[in-house]
Amino acid sequence: MERKWWMSAVGYQIYPRTFYDSNNDGIGDLKGIIQKLDYIHDLGVNLIWIGPFYKSPMDDNGYDVSDFFDVDPVFGTLEDARELLSEAHKRDIKVVLDLVLNHTSDEHEWFMESRSSLNNPKRDYYIWQKGKVDKEGKLVPPNNWGSFFEGSAWNYDETTKEFYMKIFSNKMPDLNWDNPKLREEMYRVACYWLDLGVDGFRVDAIAHLARDLSFEDSTLPLNIHGVAPDWSKFSNRPELFTYINEFHDKVLSQYDCMTVGEVGGGARIESGLGYAAYDARAFNMAFNFDHCWETSQVLDPITNQMKNVTNVKHLKEIFNYWIEGMKNKGWLPQYWLNHDHPRVINQYGDPIHYHRESGSMLGMVLLTLPGTPFIYNGEEIGMTNVDYTDVNDFNDVWVKNNVSKLLEHDSMENVLDRLRRTSRDNARTPMQWSDEPYAGFSKSNPIQKVISNYVQINVKNQLLDEHSILKSYQKLIHLRRFSEYSDVLIFGQFKLVNELNEDEFAFDRWNEHKKVRIIANFRPYSVHFDQPDGKLIYSNYERESSYGHELKPFEALMIELNND
Ligand code: NOJ
Repeated sequence: MERKWWMSAVGYQIYPRTFYDSNNDGIGDLKGIIQKLDYIHDLGVNLIWIGPFYKSPMDDNGYDVSDFFDVDPVFGTLEDARELLSEAHKRDIKVVLDLVLNHTSDEHEWFMESRSSLNNPKRDYYIWQKGKVDKEGKLVPPNNWGSFFEGSAWNYDETTKEFYMKIFSNKMPDLNWDNPKLREEMYRVACYWLDLGVDGFRVDAIAHLARDLSFEDSTLPLNIHGVAPDWSKFSNRPELFTYINEFHDKVLSQYDCMTVGEVGGGARIESGLGYAAYDARAFNMAFNFDHCWETSQVLDPITNQMKNVTNVKHLKEIFNYWIEGMKNKGWLPQYWLNHDHPRVINQYGDPIHYHRESGSMLGMVLLTLPGTPFIYNGEEIGMTNVDYTDVNDFNDVWVKNNVSKLLEHDSMENVLDRLRRTSRDNARTPMQWSDEPYAGFSKSNPIQKVISNYVQINVKNQLLDEHSILKSYQKLIHLRRFSEYSDVLIFGQFKLVNELNEDEFAFDRWNEHKKVRIIANFRPYSVHFDQPDGKLIYSNYERESSYGHELKPFEALMIELNND
């Protein structure tokens, strides 16, 4: 394996819309990111992934692109993008953009042409099919496939009286990757940004570029929307690897860039290797979502409320599956959450009773696993899920499209409870910079409501507190990037320790010079552990060198084991 810069990088994902608002219009922007580059640099990060800021009607906050070659005015200008690249590079921070290959906005000029007539030259840039007539004589979509964001995977278009495919929202028509002309257009997009100086891409929704072109009905049962949620019809299909290989050969291989594909759920090692083996002629890494939802809802007998309990054993199995499966064959990205998931401190920690402890424990696991870690903005201060009490506070397109259907089947209280646990808005609230109004994110009312705990949980407070989550992220990143343990933490071997233990996540990292044990308690109570012989490198509690047999609630230890 050849060592590359991105293997030893620490990544940080920025959701531009709610990161920092420099012009006080309530929406985050590129100049806002520039103003926070010193903060990012001081955290120890040297790679940022910025969510989409292309021109967009914002049906899905920028993933619905109407012009790939320009910046949306709410985020700034192309000049700002150039300045951002140059300011980041001055600080040795690489910049990776979100590249959206699967779809465009319905307001993209290609789609407007495509939908205008059956024989428009761009008709075949998208996926069009005739509808079917059902028993009652009604025109219905070509098949029963469901989409991720609303109802059917098809939407009817009056002008040509056909349906276009859209696996996300109605305003996000799917591109037809079977068409070589379309593929060339998308390569032009990638080259444009690479030539402008970006260091690579997080490639959106990459698992969906190929579909079952027989377009036959799924045999899965229909859901409450009357469609089959059968993602296999358009996910991880073998045909898509030929597209990715071509993209690699014609574009990616011509630049010193880094790419991480978003593969989502349902991928196995075989396809993981297709996406990101060293010799796959594809991407450098691939994000899967397998470890994001390992909690069970159980009733707390004391509070009489439902609470999340982490399936620690299963969580370890998932990480182990990918680490072992990719071992010596490909590199992994590691992350706890992104803008599509709830906050990890709610998912696997305890934001109420053990905010500092669980936040820093999760940071330690992330920053010591093999692979390139990606922190999601706000994770480093333990930002939490929303406290919204009104469904109208939620902005996500999925919520907007589905809430009335959910309310037909459930009470408002239950729907709100579900959204506060699972909605994508949980991770999209304004970054909590200080205890000033609007969390110091903006001077005017933000596009997404702030969480009221910003008064306590914010960057300013945590920078002043040596024991804060933020300070522990800084220390851990320093240990990973700049200490005598860097090599073992980045390139060392990995093995789970006590993998059957239901409470602790423990593993060893070693190379020929050093052996390090990481032990993390995922419970809000003390648990027993077998004290290994060695020197304490890091603890998220105030501990001296002796650490006994008790792991405190959410305690995390890093120990250099004695060589035997
Ligand atoms: C994955 C992105 O992470 C998500 O936010 C988006 O809605 C879909 N892809 C569609 O682009």
